[in-house]
Amino acid sequence: MPKKSRGTIGILTAGGDCPGLNAVIRGVAKAAMHYGIRVLGFQDGFRGLVENRAIELDNRLVSGILTQGGTFLGSSRDKPHKMPVGGRIMDLTSVAVRNYRRRKLDCLVCLGGNGTQKNAFRLHERGGIDVLTLPKTIDNDVAETDITFGFDSAMAIATEAIDRLHTTATSHHRIIVCEIMGHDAGWLCLGAGIAGGADIILIPEIPYDLEAVVRTLTLRRKSGKRFSLVAVAEGIISKEEADARARGGKKRKPAATAVTQQSPEGVHLVHESVASRLARQIQQRTGVEARVTSLGHVQRGGPPTPFDRLLCTRLGTKAGELLAQGHYNIMVGVKGTECVPVPLENVAGLKRTVPLDHPWLKTARLVETCLGD
Ligand code: F6P
Repeated sequence: MPKKSRGTIGILTAGGDCPGLNAVIRGVAKAAMHYGIRVLGFQDGFRGLVENRAIELDNRLVSGILTQGGTFLGSSRDKPHKMPVGGRIMDLTSVAVRNYRRRKLDCLVCLGGNGTQKNAFRLHERGGIDVLTLPKTIDNDVAETDITFGFDSAMAIATEAIDRLHTTATSHHRIIVCEIMGHDAGWLCLGAGIAGGADIILIPEIPYDLEAVVRTLTLRRKSGKRFSLVAVAEGIISKEEADARARGGKKRKPAATAVTQQSPEGVHLVHESVASRLARQIQQRTGVEARVTSLGHVQRGGPPTPFDRLLCTRLGTKAGELLAQGHYNIMVGVKGTECVPVPLENVAGLKRTVPLDHPWLKTARLVETCLGD
C-alpha cells in the first residue's frame, strides 16, 4: 500500500565517485519512502539539477545496488555558480533554485566531498533552499565527521596494491614508490601505508626531507633488506617547497612539476608527478632501481567493503529519518559509534587533514616507519 505522500526530496551525487554511493542512495531512498516521502534522483550531480534532469526513484530502482561501485545517478564536478556552458562559465544558481521549486522539493540531498558540502551550503545561503548532505570521499577529509564513506574501500584497495608491490619489489630487489590519492590529506596514504607495512610513508601534512628518505633506504640496504616500499600521497611537498611556499605565501601545492626531457626531436618540457620525481631522485641518490606505480582511479572503483556498506546504510537511513522530521541544512556525520546531524555551516569550506599529533602517526613511528621528517 503506497503511503500518503509526506513531501518530496531530490538526491544527487557530486564530485569524484567512490564505492558506497549507490549504497547511500539506497539507504536514503528506502528510509525516505518508508516515511512516505517521494524521492527524485538528479543525474550527473548539480548539472542535472540545473538542466532539470531527474528520475523518480522507487523500490525497484534502488534494489540490488547496495554492492555496486560508482553511482547509478552519475556524477560531475560542476558547480551551479560556475557552470561551463558552451565554452563559457555561467552562474546558474537561480536556474538550480527554479528547478528545485518547480519540482516542489522540500529538501535536496547532496552526497559529496568538500566541494559538494560548499556548493550545497552556497545553494542554501544564496538560493534559500533546504539541503542535507552526506560525507563522501576516499580522502576522508570532510570536517565534523570521524570518517567519510568510501574511505575504507579505497584503503582496502590501496593496501592490497601495496601487498602486491611488496612481493614484486622483493623479487627484483627494487625500491617501489606507490602513489596514493588524497589531494591535500594524507589519511588514505597513511592508513594503507601502515596496513600494508610500507617502509616510508610520505603525506602532505609532513613536508619530506629527501635526506631522511635516502638515509632510511640506505640503512635498510645495509641491514640486508634489499627492497623498499615507499607510499606517497599525491599532494606531498618537500621541506624546501614548504619553506618557499611559506615565504611566498603560495597556497596550492605542486601536484606535478615541469622537467625538461631529451628526445630525438630535441629538448622539451614534460610534467612529472611528485612520485616520479621522488623515484628519480631516490634512484640517483641510492643507485638502486626505483620504480613508480600510481594507483589512480583504481582506488575509486569497484564494490564497497562490508564496513562501507554498513556505514552507508546507517548514514543513508539516518538521513531518511531526519528528513522525515524536517531536519534540514545539516550534514549527517559520524561521531564515535553514532550517525549524527551537524550544522552544515560548520562543515562547508573546512578540510580535515591529518593532525600532527594523530595516533596513527605515532603508531607508524613505533614500527619504525620513516615519515620523511
Ligand atoms: O577527492 C577524491 C579524489 O579521488 C582525490 O583523491 C583526487 O585527487 C581527485 O579526486 C581526482 O579527481 P578526478 O577524478 O576528477 O581527477
